[in-house]
Formats: sequence, C-alpha cells, structure tokens
Amino acid sequence: MLIGLIGAMDVEIEGLKAVMENKTSEVISSVEYCRGFIRGKECIAAVAGVGKVNAAVCAQTMILKYSPDIIINIGVAGGLAPELGTGDIAVADSVVEHDVDTTPTGEPPGYISGLERVYIECSKSLADRLYNAASEIEGLMVCRGVIASGDQFIASTEQRNRIIDSFGAIAAEMEGASIGHVCAMSDVPFGVIRSISDGANGESPVSFLEFTELAAKNSISIILKLLED
Ligand code: ADE
Repeated sequence: MLIGLIGAMDVEIEGLKAVMENKTSEVISSVEYCRGFIRGKECIAAVAGVGKVNAAVCAQTMILKYSPDIIINIGVAGGLAPELGTGDIAVADSVVEHDVDTTPTGEPPGYISGLERVYIECSKSLADRLYNAASEIEGLMVCRGVIASGDQFIASTEQRNRIIDSFGAIAAEMEGASIGHVCAMSDVPFGVIRSISDGANGESPVSFLEFTELAAKNSISIILKLLED
C-alpha cells in the first residue's frame, strides 16, 4: 500500500517530510517526490505548487511514476460554511472545479469535459477515515461536503457567494478538484482534507498570512493520526 500525499506549498507538506523515515527523493519536472515511511506506512509526498495545473501535473506524474494506491490532497483553504472558523477542518465528499465555465454551450457551471460531470466523488471510505481522524482532535469543528477549486484566491463576498450558490461548497482552495480530476481519469481513489486559514472574503489576504501555518499544521496532524491507525 503506497499513500500519495500532495500539498501546494512547502508549509503544507514539510511537517510530513520531517518525520519520514528511510527517505529517498527524486525531482521530476521541477517537483520533488519524497518516498519513505511515515508512522510505519509507505508514502510518497510532493509539494506541487499553487493552482490547478501544478496540481494536475504533480498528481499525474505521481500516478504514472509511483502507482500510489490512494492520493490525499492536504493543506489550507478559505472557509465557506458558516460554522468553519480558522483552524477548523473541511473534508471533501466531492470536489468541483468552480472556474470551469462552458455555460454558453449549454453545459451547467463547472461541467468537466471528458469526465462528463460537475462533481467528482472522493473515495467514501477514505473520506470516512479522514473525518474520523479529524474528529479525534479536540476543539476542531469538522465539516464534510463539497470542496471547490479554481485558479483564484477567493477574497471577496461576491466570489464567495457565487461558489456557495452555484456549488454548495463548504471550502475553497486551488488544487483539490484538479487532483480529483486526474485521479478519476485513472481510477485512483482520492481524498481532500483542508484546514481553514481564512474566510474567503475581504479579510482573507491578511488572515491567510496570519493563519496558514497553524492551519497547515492541523491538516498535517490529521494525516499523522490517519497513518497511525
Ligand atoms: N487557500 C486558502 N485560502 C484560500 C482562498 N481564500 N482562496 C483560494 N484558496 C485558498
């Protein structure tokens, strides 16, 4: 069993690399893939870079080169569900590419050509395990639902409301759905877990800088819990 772990930024993955044993690494197309054991489980971890293209390249390379049995996307997100505060956790049941728009040709918002759907389902058993691991950490609210991805940092009420109204999303980030898209194309079970760094609103630029480190640590703690089980 090989577990793929993908984050967009160093801070989202470095805490996992730090505890990886028997580590080997290889750079492919400017991305470093670190393979080793975390809490006794074999993992391959990578920092993809921010945004959907970086994430897709990383996930596809990981699949072709290492054949992970599952891929988990971890990191931080802007919270959309009202009950999610800074540091709290969003677990995806499904993901959506909120910036895909072929509505002038009659498709619904977010419709993904090739997959022929809007929402990409996560592995239910993996989402259950991520939810259970997150629920074990005291003091954190954990929500499950749709996580929306797009090549935009969401920092206004208009953007925020559009994503909630169109897709019913609980959190917004910039990679999860593109990793889900790549995984769906190759039938690789995937999951997304994100900790909230900001409210995807006008305060986000400041909140993101202040809380990303704390939020990234929370999502890493959940992965460590999952790997311990
Ligand atoms: N990641 C963390 N906060 C975000 C936001 N507000 N928009 C998009 N991605 C994010």
